Amino acid sequence: MEIKVIYYKTSEMKTKRKTIIEIKGRSKSMKIVTDHVAYAKRDQVMPLHPENLFFIEQIDERKMKNASVLDIGIGCGVLSIAAGRFFDAKHVTGLEINSRAITFVGYNILQNGLEDCIEIKEGNLEEIFKPVTGKTFDYIIANPPFEPTPHGFNYYMHSAAGVYGTDILEKILKEISDYMAPNGYAQIACYGVGNHKGPIILQKLLADSCGNKKLVVNQLPVAYPLFMQRFAALGVTAEELRDINKKANNEGITHIWLCMLHYQHGKQQLIITPSQTIYQKWDIPLDSAVPMGCKSR
Ligand SMILES: C[S@@+](CC[C@H](N)C(=O)[O-])C[C@H]1O[C@@H](n2cnc3c(N)ncnc32)[C@H](O)[C@@H]1O
Repeated sequence: MEIKVIYYKTSEMKTKRKTIIEIKGRSKSMKIVTDHVAYAKRDQVMPLHPENLFFIEQIDERKMKNASVLDIGIGCGVLSIAAGRFFDAKHVTGLEINSRAITFVGYNILQNGLEDCIEIKEGNLEEIFKPVTGKTFDYIIANPPFEPTPHGFNYYMHSAAGVYGTDILEKILKEISDYMAPNGYAQIACYGVGNHKGPIILQKLLADSCGNKKLVVNQLPVAYPLFMQRFAALGVTAEELRDINKKANNEGITHIWLCMLHYQHGKQQLIITPSQTIYQKWDIPLDSAVPMGCKSR
């Protein structure tokens, strides 16, 4: 499905700035409110990024129609609302740990008329699936925190995911098949650390985990040190950054790739394929010229 951003509006009050984005898919559209990058607190409701468009474009229309859906980390609700509005999902359960995001998603659900379709449950930081114990779903969607984050750094709840950005993904993969219906499907956005050739570290992690998997890779990596540079604006010292980059380099990590993981039950295997669309500037919000947390112009 072709997805188009057709409208942006940012309200003017400085740190209270919010962004409204309208996205069109099929002949329908949806409006989503998020925080603006200028709201640089830990509970920021993640502004929309190119990964959201990548995610919606990658949804399997046939599998999503009439599906019972679990959205892990619903945030502003963009993926759940797309599932209900563009793809006619039957019912979505969204999990969220950030109470600010819960307020925003409630508003977004109402403004898109999906209050009978989407339900929100309080998430569990440690045991991700605990709020839906004993349930199974036709389609699990997740755009979980996946930014490589310096050890011990108090980063955004929506993005902190350990040094290589895989901490939450690993937790999800351990349990996901227990929560998928027999013909269930899952789709997870992730960053893949690796080198200039591909997300080799992520590939290794996936190859070693169970399930039948396809990894779709956006063909435009960002250099790891360039990505980590954002933490300088957030208080990580130049020396700390040098150490982080040196350690990564020693482990063969030089680049980060935006990826979409498709997961089904079945024989353990991994297929890797390039994305058809190439997403530019994918580490920067759609309504910003700079990464989250950096001073917006
Ligand atoms: C990268 S953001 C994605 C938000 C939204 N789905 C989107 O695509 O824009 C990840 C979201 O997961 C939430 N989150 C992190 N850990 C969680 C957990 N254990 N359970 C539920 N939500 C969680 C964060 O608060 C954040 O809203």
